[in-house]
Amino acid sequence: MKLIYEKSRPGRRAGTVPNPAIPRAEVPEALRRRAAPRLPELAEPEIVRHFTQLSTRNFGIDTGFYPLGSCTMKHNPRANERAVNLPGFRDLHPRQDDDSAQGALELMWRLQEILAEITGLDAVTLQPAAGSQGELTGLLVIKAHLAALGEQQRVEVLAPDSAHGTNPASVTMAGLELVGVKIDERGYVDLADLKSKLSDRTAGLMLTNPSTLGLFEENITELTKAVHETGGYCYYDGANLNAVCGISRPGDMGFDVVHINLHKTFSQPHGGGGPGGGPVAVREELAPYLPVPVVTRSGDRFRFDSDRPASVGRVRGFGGPFGVFVRSYAFIRRYGPALREMSEAAVLNANYLMARLRDAYDLPYDRACMHEFVVSARELKKQHGITALDVAKRLMDYGFHPPTVYFPLVVAEALMIEPTETEAKETLDEFADAMLAIAAEAETAPEALKEAPRSQPVRRLDEVRATKHPVLRYRFDEHPSSGDDG
Ligand SMILES: Cc1ncc(COP(=O)(O)O)c(C=O)c1O
Repeated sequence: MKLIYEKSRPGRRAGTVPNPAIPRAEVPEALRRRAAPRLPELAEPEIVRHFTQLSTRNFGIDTGFYPLGSCTMKHNPRANERAVNLPGFRDLHPRQDDDSAQGALELMWRLQEILAEITGLDAVTLQPAAGSQGELTGLLVIKAHLAALGEQQRVEVLAPDSAHGTNPASVTMAGLELVGVKIDERGYVDLADLKSKLSDRTAGLMLTNPSTLGLFEENITELTKAVHETGGYCYYDGANLNAVCGISRPGDMGFDVVHINLHKTFSQPHGGGGPGGGPVAVREELAPYLPVPVVTRSGDRFRFDSDRPASVGRVRGFGGPFGVFVRSYAFIRRYGPALREMSEAAVLNANYLMARLRDAYDLPYDRACMHEFVVSARELKKQHGITALDVAKRLMDYGFHPPTVYFPLVVAEALMIEPTETEAKETLDEFADAMLAIAAEAETAPEALKEAPRSQPVRRLDEVRATKHPVLRYRFDEHPSSGDDG
């Protein structure tokens, strides 16, 4: 970065002369620049080298194993990219009229139909841009329906301690009230506690299944039955669908609303904040409240339908993240009826890894897991002072992306591991060997573990300070030869 700022010279930048053909923006006089901005000037090779070097420091699923629990970092088939780059899809404009975008609308309509089938529900909106936005949308749909029924006093949403962190946040965002439900010693929702909290104030239950402990709720139909009997609705956080896709359906278990994370289950190059997709599927009685527009079909014609008076409105611009839809559709169609094999392999891989690690790490909930599992470093901490963070940092030296740590909150020193279905047994074994080697190092060389990672450009960062005082741009005034107008 050093060169960039040393070479910058004010006033030399091309394009600072106003182009008379472009109308001048109405920027108030007081806010206008007095001098040209100090932008760096560089030769192309310098820029190419700078960004190429930076890109080699990036860790992604294409560079290594990425068992980030709860995030489903799976391989993204390159065939998806061919599909999304077909000119008819790639060159679409969001303001194109429906008649000239029939192929795109048909793809969206088909995806809606497929997701309704996969979830066992009736109607789908593709609009939400992420799982968390899907949660908010689904809760707003339930809230709108309760209002239409004259049941506005139903404001409480029950969610267990094993819920994903976004669930309670979405409840609050939707203007509803969170009521926590205990989990029992086996990691499942405590049915008695749930029943004791149901009342005529209950809007519904929000359940992450499989839970953040990687467990499939044992009494799931009893849970939904109890909630329905008191007049509430059941919301299924389906972001963990990778464990059960093609095997079980939330609709069949009694759920009324479910969101799916397209970017987790149906592969998308995600991470770093996007792109994502969080479609929501609902039962027929809730369909009128879905966001607009919904893609509808009439004979051979497809169109955006915004004429839905009871709708909760728009939750996103235009029709939603279209590139994500194309990739998901391509992914699902390539699997076809064999889609359940994806989930079966994901569950098998997770159980294999869990079995390999169980002697060296604590298993707080010791039973067959779904697509992910949680181990704890609490014994390593007690005996050798080695924490989950130390293990995670050391894994980088072995060439692996660390798993999710300190989540779920119900497990002390948690390491949440999700291998996904796309990893070979050899990769799983290499990772297990590294985890076992680290557990051995905790005993023989604990002080060295505290210094990890040693292989990275930076060691341990002050994460709290980085969160509280983020520096989001290069500070020109830190450089001796720079001015102050950056
Ligand atoms: C179970 C669960 N629910 C909800 C979410 C939120 O999804 P998003 O990150 O797309 O907002 C996630 C994210 O991974 C998740 O794992």
